[in-house]
Amino acid sequence: MSKQFDVLVIGGGPGGYIAAIRAAQLGFNTACIDEWKTAAGGPAPGGTCTNVGCIPSKALLQSSEHFEHAGHHFADHGINLSNLSIDVAKMLARKDQVVKQNNDGILYLFKKNKVSFFHGRGSFAAAKDGLYEVKVGEESLLAKHVIVATGSNARALPGAAFDEENILSNDGALRIGGVPKKLGVIGSGVIGLEMGSVWRRLGAEVTVLEAMPAFLSAVDEGVAKEAAKLFKKQGLKIELGVKISEVKSDKGGVTVSYADAKGAAQTLAVDKLIVSIGRVANTIGLNGEAVGLKLDERGAIVVDDECKTNLPNVWAVGDVVRGPMLAHKAEEEGVAVAERIAGQHGHVNFNTIPWVIYTSPEIAWVGKTEQQLKAEGVAYKAGQFPFMANGRARALGDTNGFVKMLADAKTDEILGVHIIGPFASELIAEAVVAMEFKASAEDIARICHAHPSLSESTKEAALAVDKRTLNF
Ligand code: FAD
Ligand code: NAI
Repeated sequence: MSKQFDVLVIGGGPGGYIAAIRAAQLGFNTACIDEWKTAAGGPAPGGTCTNVGCIPSKALLQSSEHFEHAGHHFADHGINLSNLSIDVAKMLARKDQVVKQNNDGILYLFKKNKVSFFHGRGSFAAAKDGLYEVKVGEESLLAKHVIVATGSNARALPGAAFDEENILSNDGALRIGGVPKKLGVIGSGVIGLEMGSVWRRLGAEVTVLEAMPAFLSAVDEGVAKEAAKLFKKQGLKIELGVKISEVKSDKGGVTVSYADAKGAAQTLAVDKLIVSIGRVANTIGLNGEAVGLKLDERGAIVVDDECKTNLPNVWAVGDVVRGPMLAHKAEEEGVAVAERIAGQHGHVNFNTIPWVIYTSPEIAWVGKTEQQLKAEGVAYKAGQFPFMANGRARALGDTNGFVKMLADAKTDEILGVHIIGPFASELIAEAVVAMEFKASAEDIARICHAHPSLSESTKEAALAVDKRTLNF
């Protein structure tokens, strides 16, 4: 006998589990299927984000940052340490514990919200009488609405499959058992920089090989330039404009053959190689063909602006559809779809989705970059304020970077905010709120910000738009 639901979510990552909770809150009889397993074979909902993405990477970034501070910055505070060492096994165990807390938290939230959870792979079986049949193992589930949130997988370099021993995806990069002497990273995107930073801080010699001639080309040029300067100072080697020709792996490590920006043949020998060259939508095992689910040429599920697929009452959200591959984007889409199913007007504003790169310093932005505004021919004013001139940043001993605000030249509406510096990930929230409410730079400049706080730099950047900073 099949179990029947109003809403069935396939995938329990941030897109799926949040969609399921919101659907249940709205009164729908809801189920969520997720196949992720713990090492012992138990359920591990939370998807890439919780298991091998956002959460474990931030746990390791925190541990490695403590190590770096203890080794290089505590002495400035008069704290003297000797014989500093890192216990990688303990650091990884702590990371695993943080992941487990998040897995358990999601299972608790399912119970609390009365979402039925099924552990296993969900596969479309048929569509009949206005219902979709989805199989999980031997079990058959029926639902009027299906939300597909099956996420993404790491893209491999042609001819260099992930073995997670020597050639690592994000999964292997998060569980290297000891600090490699030499670590190679292909791709200087978000994962490459975050994971490269972790292992560099712990003592690895890290070389990043990037195909594009420009560093962080999606980031505001001023921020990318500052980041390149600071990462170089930290000892992260980044080679731009390379073309990888071959990757060879054996017991001794990995050798990467490539042409450098000038076309000269080069080799890089490393103990481990992280390949972080983007991710691909995941529909493995979903069996969308059974119901005629349409994919695009890159394998992503085709959806419209409202996350509707080509099939009635089948929706798709998160990494498996177009748009930025970010956990908070997946969550927003999940909420919006549940609300649309309930006849409400869920909405996701793509222009106010914040981005954060959790390096040190952190990089965060929302809205347009200066190069985008130039390309679009938008007249704008820019204001910038360095953390060097901020009292709280000086007290923290973390004065690298700045806040930059871009506002419409005529209306003063904020068009973009770009931050490189301490706690940029937290500071960006004010900019997101401001842009969502269509604030002007003057609005931020007139708001009282606590002293001493890093957020005063955002106010000062807003004042700088009108060329009237008070502290610089
Ligand atoms: P996923 O999180 O991938 O979840 C999909 C789930 O569906 C998985 O559990 C999978 O097992 C399950 N599944 C797939 N097919 C089936 C099936 N047929 N049946 C049952 N279950 C199925 N984003 C941020 O915003 N901030 C960050 O700091 C950040 N850091 C990251 C760090 C790394 C190393 C990586 C790799 C990614 C990071 N991301 C970050 C991106 C973020 O993880 C993704 O954007 C997010 O997880 C996408 O959510 P999702 O729900 O669409 O898919
Ligand atoms: P990415 O898209 O951020 O970066 C990939 C980089 O690899 C690009 O710079 C690209 O030019 C380069 N590249 C591509 N092919 C190459 C090749 N053959 N040789 C050399 N370089 C090559 O992808 P990444 O880092 O894999 O991350 C995937 C996604 O995960 C990100 O786009 C992001 O959405 C998400 N993520 C988000 C994080 C966050 O929000 N803090 C952290 C980590 C990941």
